[in-house]
Amino acid sequence: MNLLHRNHLFSLSEPFCFFTVFFLIFPTALSTDFSPTTNILLNCGSDRSVTEEGRSFLPDSSDSTQFRLSGRTTSTSKITDSVTGGISQTARVFTDESTYEFTVQSTGIHFLRLHFFPFTTDTGSLSDAVFQVNVLDKLVLLANFSATVPIVMDYLLFIPDKNKMKLAFIPKPSSRVSVAFVNAVELFTAPKDLIDNETDNVDLTKTVMETVHRINVGGDLLTPFNDTVWRTWINDKEFLLNPNLAKNYTSHKINYPIDGLRPTPEFAPKPVYSTLEQKNLVTEGSLTNNFNITWIFPVSSGYKHFIRMHFCDIVSLSVYTLKFNVYLNQEKVKNDLHPGDITHGNSAQPFYRDVIVPAQKNTKLSVSIGSSEENGNAILNGLEIMKLNDSSGSLITGFHVENSVGSGKSDTSVIVKVVISTVAVVFILLLIGAVLFIHLRRKYKQKGKQKKESDAGRTSGETGYPAAIVDSSSTASKHHFDLRISLEELIFATDDFDEKRIIGSGGFGNVYKGKLRRNGMQVAVKRGLNTSKQGLPEFRNEIMLLSQIHHRHLVSLVGYCDENDQMLLVYEYMNNDTLKSHLYGGGDGFRPLTWKQRLEICIDAAKGLHYLHTGFSQGIIHRDVKTSNILLTTNEGGEENNYLAKLSDFGLSKIGPDAGETHVSTMVKGSFGYIDPEYFKTQNLTDKSDVYSFGVVMFEILCGRPAIDLSSTNSREKINLAEYSVDMYKRGELESIVDKNLVGTIGANSLRKFGETAEMCLIEKGRDRPKMTEVLWNLQYILQLHETERRQEKNEFS
Ligand SMILES: *[C@@H]1O[C@H](CO)[C@@H](O)[C@H](O)[C@H]1NC(C)=O
Ligand SMILES: *[C@@H]1O[C@H](CO)[C@@H](O)[C@H](O)[C@H]1NC(C)=O
Ligand SMILES: *[C@@H]1O[C@H](CO)[C@@H](O)[C@H](O)[C@H]1NC(C)=O
Repeated sequence: MNLLHRNHLFSLSEPFCFFTVFFLIFPTALSTDFSPTTNILLNCGSDRSVTEEGRSFLPDSSDSTQFRLSGRTTSTSKITDSVTGGISQTARVFTDESTYEFTVQSTGIHFLRLHFFPFTTDTGSLSDAVFQVNVLDKLVLLANFSATVPIVMDYLLFIPDKNKMKLAFIPKPSSRVSVAFVNAVELFTAPKDLIDNETDNVDLTKTVMETVHRINVGGDLLTPFNDTVWRTWINDKEFLLNPNLAKNYTSHKINYPIDGLRPTPEFAPKPVYSTLEQKNLVTEGSLTNNFNITWIFPVSSGYKHFIRMHFCDIVSLSVYTLKFNVYLNQEKVKNDLHPGDITHGNSAQPFYRDVIVPAQKNTKLSVSIGSSEENGNAILNGLEIMKLNDSSGSLITGFHVENSVGSGKSDTSVIVKVVISTVAVVFILLLIGAVLFIHLRRKYKQKGKQKKESDAGRTSGETGYPAAIVDSSSTASKHHFDLRISLEELIFATDDFDEKRIIGSGGFGNVYKGKLRRNGMQVAVKRGLNTSKQGLPEFRNEIMLLSQIHHRHLVSLVGYCDENDQMLLVYEYMNNDTLKSHLYGGGDGFRPLTWKQRLEICIDAAKGLHYLHTGFSQGIIHRDVKTSNILLTTNEGGEENNYLAKLSDFGLSKIGPDAGETHVSTMVKGSFGYIDPEYFKTQNLTDKSDVYSFGVVMFEILCGRPAIDLSSTNSREKINLAEYSVDMYKRGELESIVDKNLVGTIGANSLRKFGETAEMCLIEKGRDRPKMTEVLWNLQYILQLHETERRQEKNEFS
């Protein structure tokens, strides 16, 4: 669960082909007695039915008794030499709000699965689509969603009446590629009594639950083949806080309760109950066995979670010996759990326990098991963690389905509020994708031939933006952006601009850390010093534009306030200071960044900048790319020192108020040491000026010293980092100016390629400099080089 996985994912070509390969290896399906009343399986964007895992997915190209599709849609298929069929090969693309209306024969809990395989078609890449998905006209499943890796979203949905069940796909209008898509949909009745209507006083009949983790504790990855309800279960190892304390165990002798008592194999299949983690008890010496096993899972803050824990005592010699406690977030939720009693003395009989964890601020959920008796054992076989919709019916903060359909004001039922970034959600998706993918890839490697290292990275979904499916006519007018934040709220959020809350300052004024009363969101409030009334309409327009820019690697604007001629800008809060403070000076107590971390941060920032340059019709030039404008945040749910980097302070440079600066936009703006000399001379600003500044940032990252270093007065040419490092590069002496914290950790190849790329960014003539696409591509390649070099190093040692 770290950035490494993520980058591997992005840099490998067509990861989903591994899925296909995987499916082909095992063509026969698990036989099952489970036959759901409602069982609708759609192969979207196709006119043929396909069989996967022994189940037949019907084409969605013509309506049937099971469903009706309405809206503006097209179908598309993957470009491949050999058409293997399969649900991953075709997609339904929605160019406007569109709806599947399903005819369900059953009420109660249903499984709903949405399959996304973001392949590239001849008109563009599906990974560029950003969209929302609503269900039952009232619940928001996904919003601001884009699938950058193959992913299957799994939901448990309560359908209150036998009737039409609506599933709506809504492209995000302001996005560059205004479409939505899906490759396959599964909707089927869940096994009888799978979930009680009420758990811990929460009414689940009005709630949709999203599976965020489904874990086969102590066991292998289970695919839909291994599960009669076609679920995927992953291994728990990477979530263990201290893997040494846990020991897995397997026994295939499982005795499900008879006479239809719960759980049946549909609750969790045999492989889940036949493996577990138990305490790694110390048998000798003075060490104590008084400890817990703890797992830490990334979850979304602000949402209730349904936790199902599966147990089966296959380890105890006598059925009555085991007795243990379960803690969620350090709180004891099950006291003296005694399998012998629960199963009435039946050995190896599965059981489960459900708990609802209240909404919390934390983005981590800890699950611990420990013995009730001193030095005793404790077990866990399976774990399911599901996110419950919030009280507004949404799984995504800030989005909900508007009730007043047809109120005349707006032709859409959706209000898009500008919101908190969806980092947490995306991260969890990536995580699930990563785990699956890595496992499958290993399988593929065993089977197939070695894929050449050099092939990798060619078709990264994030680079090489196609233009054909860009819908530039889409407007934001359909949606209301409610961006204005009252002065009163900001005064509250910042304790009346308390000095203690200042987290930054500059020519424009101060930046305060604050917390919005309405949703508890942490924000950074930027307060301009001077303001001029004339600028206000322009200011608002600009804000409207910026508020629509949402990218994982750009700090989002949350809102603004212009009451009493104040100019206040409210941004998402980044908890880990600037790249500059991490590199040198300013930030106390930061450990020096490793080369890999630096590369990853560099890649993140390059992605943000690349998006600014290419994501909009005219392109946006940042104008002030520098290390103090690259903000870091600790990756939610990630390990410490796993940073996510975002570019800040973009776009507002054209207008006055960002600054309280007296200069107008025709004046050369930027920061000393980063300014493109060509722009300086000609005053002609292009995106290549940003590329120049980015080159300076790259050398700063490598050398760990400022762009302008007045302390090196002993020699004039050393003052300007850009000049100095290009000079050293050309003389082949780049290695001698590398940050001393990095010495010995950078392989020759990655250093050479890095120097070459940075040097190209600093070429005098803008038109000869690379575009950000190329820079980004190189950086991803450098990271791969680095990983390869490190692997080789390791091999040499062993
Ligand atoms: C899961 O299914 C695959 C394919 O049928 C099989 O090879 C594997 O052994 C199964 N795993 C378990 C744990 O049953
Ligand atoms: C197990 O964890 C709980 C909750 O954090 C704690 O109260 C308890 O003392 C722990 N037990 C041991 C033996 O460490
Ligand atoms: C889920 O949303 C519905 C509104 O559609 C609401 O009635 C229900 O209480 C929500 N569930 C939870 C757990 O808040």
